[in-house]
Amino acid sequence: MPKDADANTAPAHVAIIMDGNGRWAVQRGRPRLFGHHAGARRVKEIVKACPDLGVKYLTIFAFSTENWKRTQTEVAGIMSLFRIYLEREAEELFKSGVCVRFIGDRIRLDDKLVSLMDELELRTAQNDRVHLTVALNYGGRDEVTRAAKRLAYEVEQGRLTHNDVDAETLAQFLDTHVLPDPDLVIRTSGEARISNFLLWQSAYAEYEFVDTLWPDFTPNEFAKVLQGFGKRERRFGAIRA
Ligand code: FPP
Repeated sequence: MPKDADANTAPAHVAIIMDGNGRWAVQRGRPRLFGHHAGARRVKEIVKACPDLGVKYLTIFAFSTENWKRTQTEVAGIMSLFRIYLEREAEELFKSGVCVRFIGDRIRLDDKLVSLMDELELRTAQNDRVHLTVALNYGGRDEVTRAAKRLAYEVEQGRLTHNDVDAETLAQFLDTHVLPDPDLVIRTSGEARISNFLLWQSAYAEYEFVDTLWPDFTPNEFAKVLQGFGKRERRFGAIRA
């Protein structure tokens, strides 16, 4: 377990694009799904490390609205991994004080998976040690589009007028409406792009791109990235004080 990062400067909300599972497996001559299983084990360790590192909210990009373009075998394998993981880890997540939420559109997910997600959300709703949000069939544009659609419906029904539409109102219709914005977004595997992740919410986030493939991203490396965040000066559009 890593030593704690500076609690005063730790980002309250860290979002992670967990990239590199496929390459990690291919480097070992194994099928891509082998990498996703290793990635899932890593998720567990990173979640466990959060309280000591002062991270209250962790949001992870597990499956994007674009990931359906992968082979049917890979998609089915990832979906079954989610089911296994949610079933197997539910008890420990609950006992260790993790409040689990899911963001993304559930419409395309299978019924069994959706009921496991609902159960876990309900079971852990009162927990407050760490807030883990799993983005599943999530895309930033899709989320904003769904929010706009619901907002338009409210106007159509006469519950809101167009003058009520501002950034704050729109944000209330996002999947993340109960979460603070991320302070830090980390992407592993050396790719420097955001791939439709938390587009609205990351307006003022700091970004950190690390070369490590996700299955190799240890709690120690996580702690180092957080220490680097503590040295950054965040101005939110203002000038230096
Ligand atoms: C990115 O690696 C990973 C994914 C698209 C799937 C993420 C899934 C997990 C980490 C499994 C664990 C998650 C939970 C919540 C149990 P990639 O396949 O894009 O890697 P590549 O860029 O090397 O091909």
